[in-house]
Amino acid sequence: DKGTHRHFMAKEIHEQPSVLAYALSHYLDPARKAVDLPGPAPDFAAMDRLLLVACGTAYYACHVAKYWFEQIARIPVEIDVASEFRYRNPPIGGRDGAIFVSQSGETADTLAALRYVRDAGGHPIAVVNVAESSIARESDQAFEIKAGPEIGVASTKAFTCQLIVLAALAITAGRQRGTIVAAEEERLVTALARVPAQVADALGAEAHVSELARDLAKARDILFLGRGPMYPLALEGALKLKEISYIHAEGYASGELKHGPIALVDDSVPVICFAPMDPLFDKTVSNMQEVMARGGRVLLASDTDGLAEAADGAWATLSMPACDPVWAPIVYAVPAQLLAYHTAVEKGTDVDQPRNLAKSVTVE
Ligand code: M6R
Repeated sequence: DKGTHRHFMAKEIHEQPSVLAYALSHYLDPARKAVDLPGPAPDFAAMDRLLLVACGTAYYACHVAKYWFEQIARIPVEIDVASEFRYRNPPIGGRDGAIFVSQSGETADTLAALRYVRDAGGHPIAVVNVAESSIARESDQAFEIKAGPEIGVASTKAFTCQLIVLAALAITAGRQRGTIVAAEEERLVTALARVPAQVADALGAEAHVSELARDLAKARDILFLGRGPMYPLALEGALKLKEISYIHAEGYASGELKHGPIALVDDSVPVICFAPMDPLFDKTVSNMQEVMARGGRVLLASDTDGLAEAADGAWATLSMPACDPVWAPIVYAVPAQLLAYHTAVEKGTDVDQPRNLAKSVTVE
């Protein structure tokens, strides 16, 4: 049931403040300001390397999590799309950990990648929405993202809930490996606990997004830019937009722009920059200025401080709540989703059932 919403996707976007809080309630102990996993913790201290494998949006969740595991737990992480991983015959070592992320838990390539690791003697861990799914059953251990049923083909709340669980696992890994002390865990957990409220704030930009969507819907190509953990979010923003609005979109790491894609930029190409106030902010802004110097129409999503510093010359701005830069990808997922949604609505596409796509891809 869509409730008062026109589409399941809109309903699922708007559910996020409550489902994220619900997911967090299974992974955090608010009294101790610590992570408290719902099951036995994987032994991250015994790992030399962590593999994160998935498809589509779940893969981008892995890509964000790579930044977290590396930064918080200093564990080398490899990310892979399942369809490449499974056929590459990758060497699996005895001290490799492997996490498979899937909303449905039935994605054929992800399941095959999991079986590959298991057959190689590894101990696959799953992060899934559907507890009784094949991926959950065939892994040594499954962590549920608690997003509730996701009906829209475009994944929204499952993505942000996947990030919550991966964040909790990254903090756990940091604790086990001694790369964060208790005070740092407290700081990270406190900041994570604020995310649902920040996501609710970010939803406040919706009316403005729907105005901007009228222009975006006319574009033939749209670029998304981000740095650090906002880079995978740029990839996710582009995927979301293409799959439901059918507008060609690409996500790039901001610093990679001058290595090719900037050749595409002119005043017909909107360039969407996800730029929270983080240590890389100035670098992102200088990449944005390169775009503006070539006539590109920049849409800058940032917080009050960021907009005060860098909004000059931008075609449009989206005001985001201030948030901890580590967890910013969860909060900035909201404008990425809203931009795709409203642009698709403007174009009149079938938002919940985009052409050629299935919710669960059970064939390879
Ligand atoms: O069920 P899964 O999470 O394994 O699905 C993976 C992808 O098929 C899925 O995320 C797909 O990319 C979405 N349609 C993106 O919105």
